[in-house]
Amino acid sequence: MTGSYPSTRLRRTRASAWSRALHRETVLTPADLIWPLFVTEGKGVEEPIGSLPGVSRWSLDGIAKRAKEALDLGMPCVALFPNTQPERRSDNGKEALNPDNLMCRAIGAIKDACGEDIGVLTDVALDPYTSHGQDGLLDDAGYVVNDHTVAVLVDQALNQAEAGADIVAPSDMMDGRIKAIRMALEMSDYPNVQIMSYAAKYASAFYGPFRDAVGSGGLLKGDKKSYQMDPANGEEALREVEFDLAEGADSVMVKPGLPYLDIVRRVKERFEVPVFAYQVSGEYAMIEAAAAAGAGDRDELVLETLMAFKRAGCSGVLTYHAPLAARLLGG
Ligand code: PBG
Repeated sequence: MTGSYPSTRLRRTRASAWSRALHRETVLTPADLIWPLFVTEGKGVEEPIGSLPGVSRWSLDGIAKRAKEALDLGMPCVALFPNTQPERRSDNGKEALNPDNLMCRAIGAIKDACGEDIGVLTDVALDPYTSHGQDGLLDDAGYVVNDHTVAVLVDQALNQAEAGADIVAPSDMMDGRIKAIRMALEMSDYPNVQIMSYAAKYASAFYGPFRDAVGSGGLLKGDKKSYQMDPANGEEALREVEFDLAEGADSVMVKPGLPYLDIVRRVKERFEVPVFAYQVSGEYAMIEAAAAAGAGDRDELVLETLMAFKRAGCSGVLTYHAPLAARLLGG
């Protein structure tokens, strides 16, 4: 006889919907979702993003409406990414420090619409502001220099905190930036602004549509492999997380999502801290393409993948499918 069959039948508890509900180990709710939003200039503007079917850039009025929608659907947080006008992009990305930039105005628009009822997470990195599309400052050889970039990121994070950001999320992968940003926040009277570190961020082929969305794709020369991680590495991700936590991160992120759930699990088991994952633009596009091709049911694909993040150990997921998922979950 194989195992303890027939006294143990694992199918027994699966036989009815009520029993499956009773034995479900993981729950997914709208409170697990963070909705990334793309911001553009103008009024009443909605710009669909070709490589992200169903996702648009919104002007400030639209951003405020999306945030209100997120709140009504039960989402705790939205994430902001600006599409900076071309004439405001420069070699050193100094628009990132402008207190009146698109990002800061979007934070204000959301706070005006939703008060403190929803969290606003802001991306700290220079790529939406540089004319070369890299996340930091370049030396003459085109290498992204670490320490000078960190100094600018600190000012960018302070600029966002000043505008009302609740969570600053450095996505640049410079060494030492969490400590520098944490110290600056402490010294500038923003002790309660959280840092969600993009701690294990890989140099991935899944970011293409995002770069279209923020307008950096066409500008980018070369790749980001000198700062984003090699997809072959797992131990190194644990070191990244260890340093970022020691430097003052409140939570850490793994990115991309689905291909890196092993990293999520290892980070969760090793550190027992809040871990988030970013189901990135290419993953969204992949699900949309599969659904459009009749290769799977969109709603089911979305809910299954999001549940997988939770099962792997995530506290929450950044996903462009957030409004759809929240609706399906009854938010
Ligand atoms: C850049 C940044 C990227 C994403 C979030 N912040 C792209 C990149 O590193 O080139 C990707 C998100 C996505 O693909 O959805 N700092």
